[in-house]
Amino acid sequence: MKTKVISAKLDRVASQLLVVFALDTAEKKQPAKPAIKLLTANSGVAKATATILGSGEFAAGSCDTVLLHAPAGCKAERILLVGLGKLTTAEVRKAAGAAVRFAKPRKLRELSLAIPEGLDAAAATRALVEGAYIGDFDPDTYRSDRKDQSIEQLTIVAAGGVKEAPLEAGLREGVILGEAQNFARSLVNEPGNVMTPTVLGQKAAEMCAQYGLSCEVYGADKLKELKMGAFWGVTKGSQEPPALIVMSYEPKGAPATPVLGLVGKGITFDTGGISIKPADGMEKMKYDMAGGAAMIGAMQAIAQLKPAVKVIGIVCAAENMPSGTAMKPGDIQIAMSGKSIEIINTDAEGRLVLADGLAYARQLGATHLIDAATLTGACVVALGMVNAGSFSNDDETYRHFTDAFQISGERFWRLPVEDDYKEFIKSNIADIMNTGGSRWGGAITAAMFLKEFVEDTPWIHLDIAGLAWTEEQKPWMAKGPSGFAVRTITEWVRSYGK
Ligand code: BES
Ligand code: MN
Ligand code: ZN
Repeated sequence: MKTKVISAKLDRVASQLLVVFALDTAEKKQPAKPAIKLLTANSGVAKATATILGSGEFAAGSCDTVLLHAPAGCKAERILLVGLGKLTTAEVRKAAGAAVRFAKPRKLRELSLAIPEGLDAAAATRALVEGAYIGDFDPDTYRSDRKDQSIEQLTIVAAGGVKEAPLEAGLREGVILGEAQNFARSLVNEPGNVMTPTVLGQKAAEMCAQYGLSCEVYGADKLKELKMGAFWGVTKGSQEPPALIVMSYEPKGAPATPVLGLVGKGITFDTGGISIKPADGMEKMKYDMAGGAAMIGAMQAIAQLKPAVKVIGIVCAAENMPSGTAMKPGDIQIAMSGKSIEIINTDAEGRLVLADGLAYARQLGATHLIDAATLTGACVVALGMVNAGSFSNDDETYRHFTDAFQISGERFWRLPVEDDYKEFIKSNIADIMNTGGSRWGGAITAAMFLKEFVEDTPWIHLDIAGLAWTEEQKPWMAKGPSGFAVRTITEWVRSYGK
């Protein structure tokens, strides 16, 4: 997708599809009387859309659309009105995605988006571009009837007289974040037989080479050398070798500290292992590397946005399989940190690979940690598919995170990590068990397990099990891999490098 910002009168914009945003500004007291307002002042567009806006047929709710052909007095071939529901950058992002998803099946390859008034124009520009990229992605690479329907040209239109430099910056950020998110989605979309740990390592290495990051991809030998018994326990049931992916970003002139450690769960397929999962829905467990993909995507964005802070990105990639060499319930594995773990359920494998990934990030010098993982079904039970679970042992670090997701528009809900929950993962015969024994508080006991391996390092854990894969088609996004958390993690990193 090519992108540009122009400053022009809207009715003078020659485009296949000119997208103009609208809002219902009616007071709550008079719901019967909508007052739909265009968020861009232009007399030509106002005239061409006056009838439909006054008709009461278009409520301008979130992602509502109306198409007008050959609008009189306008140079554009079509005008698409898109409702915002509310005037926020999150709504703008979705509305832009909805516009793109409107254009794609109609074979329109070029569209122009008018920056909505009433928001910071640079932030709105960024949201428009992010939304357009998100909407442009379709997970149909394996379909023979696939038509490459991607948008070729996206133009962001500012009203005359606006300063262009901040808009250009907003556009650039939007492109970087949109591409990074879609890159993560493309990794998650690949099936387990294609996206093995080795291939995930290659994809990360290619990305790093392209964007100037250093990258090492280690195999089983390194796991043994580092005594990563927890990670090893998971991988040893599979014929596919594991990959320990280490990406690093060390900008010149960055202070010695902080060093941010990004750790992702990269289970390229989760059968559950010997504690095997039921067949129903197991095919979806190819997305169990979405946390790892989010870290790879975030590293791509960080490499381009160049914040003045050191970052290490680690992905622990493995396949969780049952076999004659697989880890068994009752086994004891010794983690890199030296802690002994009694394996209760081999399906609680994510926390095992992360335990060693987090310990390794600390050994490499990380002073602040963030991990992302499709870790528990329990988190989906708790929060549904609206908020991801977030956990932290440090309020100051978490404050950076709150700021970050306010900018990204992604939603997280903080859950507790309190010592009382530690009881659940105490073992009789080892230091710790890998599940909480009962189902209660499953997302929290998983987080408590991870907490054992970060010691006193400030840390954030993200359980993205409910958000990494979208079950239903949304007006602004195809169903399938969402690329969730790429934008927020990137923004969290930037908050330390400003
Ligand atoms: N990858 C799963 C968690 C998951 C579930 C992700 C649903 C996405 C959607 C994880 O490895 C797992 O199997 N967790 C178990 C933990 C249990 C055995 C303590 C779970 O949630 O059931
Ligand atoms: Mn599992
Ligand atoms: Zn898993």
